[in-house]
Amino acid sequence: MGSQLVNTLEREDPCRLQALREFYSGKRVVITGGMGFIGSNLAIALVELGAHVLIIDSMIPEYGGNTFNIEPIRARVKVNISDVRDRTSLNYLLQGQDLLFNLAGTLSHVDSMRDPFTDLEINCVSQLAILESCRLYNPHIKIVFAGTRGQYGRTSGKPVAEDTPMQPVDVNGINNVAGEAYHLLYNDVYGIRACSLRMTNTFGPRHQMRHPRQGVLNWFIRQLIDGEKIRLYGTGTQIRDINYVADVVEALLLAMSDERTNGEAFNLGGEALSLRQFVELAIEVNGGGEYELVPFPPEAKIIEPGDYVADYSKFHKLTGWKPRVSVREGIRRTLEYYRTYKHWYWGEHPAGVPPTPFENLPFGA
Ligand SMILES: NC(=O)c1ccc[n+]([C@@H]2O[C@H](COP(=O)([O-])OP(=O)(O)OC[C@H]3O[C@@H](n4cnc5c(N)ncnc54)[C@H](O)[C@@H]3O)[C@@H](O)[C@H]2O)c1
Repeated sequence: MGSQLVNTLEREDPCRLQALREFYSGKRVVITGGMGFIGSNLAIALVELGAHVLIIDSMIPEYGGNTFNIEPIRARVKVNISDVRDRTSLNYLLQGQDLLFNLAGTLSHVDSMRDPFTDLEINCVSQLAILESCRLYNPHIKIVFAGTRGQYGRTSGKPVAEDTPMQPVDVNGINNVAGEAYHLLYNDVYGIRACSLRMTNTFGPRHQMRHPRQGVLNWFIRQLIDGEKIRLYGTGTQIRDINYVADVVEALLLAMSDERTNGEAFNLGGEALSLRQFVELAIEVNGGGEYELVPFPPEAKIIEPGDYVADYSKFHKLTGWKPRVSVREGIRRTLEYYRTYKHWYWGEHPAGVPPTPFENLPFGA
């Protein structure tokens, strides 16, 4: 249940683990969106590396926050249920902190078209507010921003490097372009150290499993566990560049701990597979399952970005990062996690208790 990354580094790369421990031990680290998928996996690794972690998360029900996500560290982490749209809270909470992993955001491309103003407030206006809080109250903090491959929009299908023109196909992509640009601007103009990781489709334990709008890979895993037929839109041949979450956590830790990342944006990437290949692999690892091809719903078709293959050589050359976990192994671990803890993520909990036991959480600043 602890950090898969720390366990892997203990076995495979003790020098890197030692360097990360030396950097993070005793640091005061904030994670916005830390109750969500990537943020909670990161929080667990940071606590195991000796950091003092404060999570800021609004726990808006439709998004990915889940109190069970931080179960392994619940007594060793502080949680403040705040919204990054609340500037007064941010001004207070960001003071005295050394590092900020800025992961609070909305992910759904479809939702950003249905409700563009919420996406604008969270992914764009709030990002500027966070940076202003840092400028006014804590200019020595370093920030890693969670960018997205959605910033590029439709690409040619060839590997996409960071200097590829950005032509987002939805409101979420546009707001992330701006959110990232604010961070790099504050780095250049005010010297508030910041960089961005443009993440690609990420899957693994602690992703929300109630709906597919924040990413389909984990949704396919849920359908397999429930014995449902997986529904693939179109021909299923659309390519995604896929990362397992422990590898993304390592990338975040490396980006933060390396001063050469300041003012830069980097792609992450992993294995480029069609969604159909991912599903066929998942069925094989699961030992059974079925899928069918169904027509795209019109609202998904119109913002479908097409094939995406990342060129992540810029980040690899600088930090040595590359994925350690194959998609096959990631699927195996993800199936195992949700088979064990499924009731914290969907359906009825067997003990009849709500899946968010707030009363036991160590709230505070
Ligand atoms: N998961 C992916 O495949 C992926 C891909 C590209 C980029 N990203 C980026 O990584 C970041 C984290 O994604 P994730 O997959 O962990 O999503 P997630 O939904 O699991 O986590 C995001 C967290 O942010 C919180 N949050 C949302 N709005 C907030 C607000 N206004 N105030 C405070 N907290 C708020 C949510 O409650 C949630 O816990 C996001 O910025 C996302 O755009 C993720």
